[in-house]
Amino acid sequence: MNIDFKKIEDNGFYNVELDPTLDLFAAINNLKKEKNAVVLAHFYQEPDIQDVADYIGDSLGLAQKAAETNADIIVFAGVHFMAETAKILNPSKKVLLPDLKAGCSLADSAPKNLFKAFKDKHPDHLVISYINCTADIKALSDIICTSSNAEAILNSLPQDQKIIFAPDKNLGGYLNKKTGRNMLLWNGACMVHEIFSLEKIIKLKVRHPQAQLIAHPECEEAVLNIADYIGSTTQLLKYSQNKNCNEFIVATETGILHKMQQTSPNKTFIPAPPNNSCACNDCPHMKLNTLEKLYICMQYEVPELTMDETLRIAAKKPIDRMLEISKVAGLLG
Ligand code: 13P
Ligand code: SF4
Repeated sequence: MNIDFKKIEDNGFYNVELDPTLDLFAAINNLKKEKNAVVLAHFYQEPDIQDVADYIGDSLGLAQKAAETNADIIVFAGVHFMAETAKILNPSKKVLLPDLKAGCSLADSAPKNLFKAFKDKHPDHLVISYINCTADIKALSDIICTSSNAEAILNSLPQDQKIIFAPDKNLGGYLNKKTGRNMLLWNGACMVHEIFSLEKIIKLKVRHPQAQLIAHPECEEAVLNIADYIGSTTQLLKYSQNKNCNEFIVATETGILHKMQQTSPNKTFIPAPPNNSCACNDCPHMKLNTLEKLYICMQYEVPELTMDETLRIAAKKPIDRMLEISKVAGLLG
């Protein structure tokens, strides 16, 4: 079959009409075996994708799985920077992303040239970048972190170390407060986490006085200030399982509610409302992936994520540093 790569470039995916009677779950499971492919999915993916995945996790867990896998093909049900990280860590594997246009507002908020100019103005600063950034930004960084290991990374450095933290100003501000540091923050934010409405959340808390508010550190300070618990997606999930509480207001992307509800079927999870007319907060990038696109990308092995080797090597160094520190801190599964 001749694949029209121009169409993939335009659409972000290979647009093939599928027979509606096709059992996509069975077909994807067959393709996994036939092609020795592993499907890695982030917690923000739609429920069907999570249910068909071999591994569901947060950014740290997914990076670790991508680095370790023996599969020939890594199918990354997540966003572009996550698939890039998989390729950086395991370059001999074919890395597929169901929709190449699944980007990230945080990654977009740090363009390479502007960030390089900012970094050059502060040559005595170490650069720590949140994993939600492009390979170009990773290549300009000294250490990468995720929301699961950011504190451990900072604790491994002298308290007086000058640091630039990019691209998430909310996570950076939270870390500054928590660790007593004064990191210089890049002015980026996640479009999903910065849109929560403080007023609507307060009203929800009044209506559900027993509920705990759990929030991702990408949320704005005002929301974090009233949260009962703050953590990465994996940390929020574990907290909801272990905490002796039956009701949670969840201030992060709604995809995580699927796993929370599966692991704690008798508890109630309420998505924190955004500052618009919707009742919940979906990431438009994460939600570009669908079960159909997942099947098509596995069947035709497109779109594939490729990367310049010089860039890959430069971007790998700070990720390796992150993985080493995480290992010492006992944060890797
Ligand atoms: P974690 O899964 O690492 O908590 O990250 C959340 C996120 O915004 C991913 O895009
Ligand atoms: Fe990026 Fe935010 Fe979407 Fe995560 S939820 S992919 S940080 S835009």
